Amino acid sequence: MLSNIPVRHYLQFADFSADEYAYLLQRAEFLKAKFKRYETWHPLHDRTLAMIFEKNSTRTRLSFEAGIHQLGGHAVFLNTKDTQLGRGEPVEDAAQVISRMTDIIMIRTFGQDIIERFASNSRVPVINGLTNEYHPCQVLADIFTFVEHRADIKGKTIAWIGDANNMAYTWVQAAEILDFKVNFSAPPGYQLDEKLLSAQAKKHLTVFQNPLDACKGADLVTTDVWTSMGYEDENQARLKAFKNWMVTDELMAAAHADALFMHCLPAHRGEEVAASVIDGSQSVVWDEAENRLHVQKALMEFLLCGKL
Ligand code: CP
Ligand code: NVA
Repeated sequence: MLSNIPVRHYLQFADFSADEYAYLLQRAEFLKAKFKRYETWHPLHDRTLAMIFEKNSTRTRLSFEAGIHQLGGHAVFLNTKDTQLGRGEPVEDAAQVISRMTDIIMIRTFGQDIIERFASNSRVPVINGLTNEYHPCQVLADIFTFVEHRADIKGKTIAWIGDANNMAYTWVQAAEILDFKVNFSAPPGYQLDEKLLSAQAKKHLTVFQNPLDACKGADLVTTDVWTSMGYEDENQARLKAFKNWMVTDELMAAAHADALFMHCLPAHRGEEVAASVIDGSQSVVWDEAENRLHVQKALMEFLLCGKL
């Protein structure tokens, strides 16, 4: 069934304004509280979410599937291996067909161009569940988690230690929209591509050679795997290049005393993060994972019903 509100997609963090994020964050808080009280809330009664996975997932699949169910709807899981996408059906054709049978679509794929082509041919909202370039749902959950544990993220400093991957680019986009700072540190050869950053976003970014310097004064230290999905052939080279970019207790000690640690998960203890940090008192990784559920419920509700 077609919604009567204009179709909006969520393909990257920059797709929404600061005002819309303020709404989504307070809505996620509202929906989380309802969930904790076991209160039924079915604004998406009878709606169907198609979830298309071209890469593996635990959290994204679970949080979207549980989330649409809790909102009164239903999820259909599709992956490359079992669908005609894996046999070369054009993404444009798949989008036409899938969007005629469902109300909202989430895709995890490779290049951002794929999700953009899909969205251009979809008559229902399309959500980015991770591409090579961006992971907006995760950063939305991370910011909600920061707000829950501390306060508004505006004016705060985030230290990103590690690869210039989909999470890093999304944090930089978020810094521009929500007005905070990103201290970035990665080994030579694994830096952010400045051509992919807006002039405005660059004003919120400081690049450090030494990861310890990047952590100084940070309110949040965050990292991610050294080798993202799709880059497995580079794993051996990356293990060598990134060996001094592990988030250790020493790095956490350089940040503010009350700094939080986040990781989108899955994590590799002893590579990008020391076990003592991810399992330590400053780590909020389990809240971060849970909050995927709550922010994505707010996101699906917003895309299909607008502001309630
Ligand atoms: N963080 C995240 O997106 O996890 P999954 O790969 O398990 O979905
Ligand atoms: N950067 C990682 C995130 C996994 C959730 C990847 O793309 O594999």
